[in-house]
Amino acid sequence: MTQEPQDSISKLLRRHQQEHVLRWWPGLNADQRATLASQLAEIELSQIDSLWANSSASATVDESPAQKALRAVPPAQLVRARVDNDRDRDAWARARQTGKALLREGRVGVILVAGGEGTRLGFPRPKGEYPIGAVSGKSLFQVLAEQVLAHSKRAGAPIPYYVMTSQATHDAAVSFFAAHGHFGLAADDVHFFRQGNMPAVDRNSGRLLLSAKHALALSPDGHGGLLQALERAHLLEDMRRRGIDLLFYHQIDNPLARVCDPAFLGFHVERDSEVSTKVVAKLNSEEKMGVLVDVDGKTQIIEYSDLPAEIAARRNAQEELLHWAGSTAMHIFNRTFLERLSTQQTGLPFHRAVKKVSFIDDAGQLVEPTVENAIKYERFVFDVLPLAERSLVVEARREDEFCPLKNKSGDFSPEHVRDSMSRQYAGWLRAAGIEVPDGLPVEISPRYALDAEELANKIDRAHNFAGPIYLEQ
Ligand code: UTP
Repeated sequence: MTQEPQDSISKLLRRHQQEHVLRWWPGLNADQRATLASQLAEIELSQIDSLWANSSASATVDESPAQKALRAVPPAQLVRARVDNDRDRDAWARARQTGKALLREGRVGVILVAGGEGTRLGFPRPKGEYPIGAVSGKSLFQVLAEQVLAHSKRAGAPIPYYVMTSQATHDAAVSFFAAHGHFGLAADDVHFFRQGNMPAVDRNSGRLLLSAKHALALSPDGHGGLLQALERAHLLEDMRRRGIDLLFYHQIDNPLARVCDPAFLGFHVERDSEVSTKVVAKLNSEEKMGVLVDVDGKTQIIEYSDLPAEIAARRNAQEELLHWAGSTAMHIFNRTFLERLSTQQTGLPFHRAVKKVSFIDDAGQLVEPTVENAIKYERFVFDVLPLAERSLVVEARREDEFCPLKNKSGDFSPEHVRDSMSRQYAGWLRAAGIEVPDGLPVEISPRYALDAEELANKIDRAHNFAGPIYLEQ
């Protein structure tokens, strides 16, 4: 592009009243111009217009989530957490065997979403690189990827690993996996694919914000960008070619996740579900978690911010929370379900979030706002739930499976997460009859054992468990 931006871009921007983004064009060098032009080519200005024009919280939804919440009831298709009786023991053992057979047949793939910016944690690298292992200092990536490896080895079948990144995390994540030998997985079985970007707009005017004179303020388009990103990278075809028909979906921040949990897979298939979701009981009505509910017979998630406090606080006749089922953001998707959404070009709605976004002002100065100045638009993966014909909700115990790394300090901080991991692993050792002092850092590599049962079968009880414990292969 020469001195003038391409005519078509200028015209387009003028039509959408966004021509201010070319204000600094004359002073940009060739590389900077190319950057801005390619960013502009990637975004859909008419989409931004209609999102801006629609002031509701969920732009393309007819009814507000709060109105919907009035009709919400607890999910009907539900497997409660296992209790210690014969019936449950049998049902869970059967589901586990079914799941293990699916893994042996090589029908299971894993989707990990790791495209978020992790702003609350404030770690300067992708969150997946965070050294979370209480004893080993292993990264979140490693703790999760080693579970995929361990399942694949035990099953004797490859488990393709589909890792969604974003512009913010892609290069670093790819290099990190390569530098660590893909954590033992075959490089051919690990597919990185990039989600899209969405521009931030000024909350008062709807004008696109610039993060530099030659760059729009862009951020990842939300984990719901998964559908388009899978399609762009032709990964549904890859799955079909490999005979993968079940996808275990999880997020990078929860090292307690039981990746490829055989019982979860088993229930999903036994109940003929298209989409299944793991939940844990909310700690209290105010906990900031999306809840699984049925509305008009469709299982779905209502975000905590969309659930009015009085509805969140409702209780049943036994005085238990009515909307207790907090989402852990672990799902199983049938590949055919994802294919159907892709064929039907089902666009998930965008949700708005009001955020602080640094921007270049009209004088060309970078402004770090002290109050929320911008709107970001994001898609949420769980908006696929009501599109499923058959859903299932499976309850897990929080202490066994859920403690995501979100914050610098306090709840869901590194200390909280490490402590939860140590407690879980110490619980496995105690179940095997080994005494473990309270508060001891404990870490069990997935390469050594994936659960309490496996640990009990191989642990050397003569070992001295006085200091920090780390069990590796
Ligand atoms: P969060 O919504 O907790 O966002 O993402 P985050 O990026 O980790 O942290 P904050 O909100 O900026 O502090 C939940 C999961 O969804 C992924 C994240 O990587 C994390 O695994 N995610 C989120 C994406 O993959 N893409 C996105 O655009 C947003």
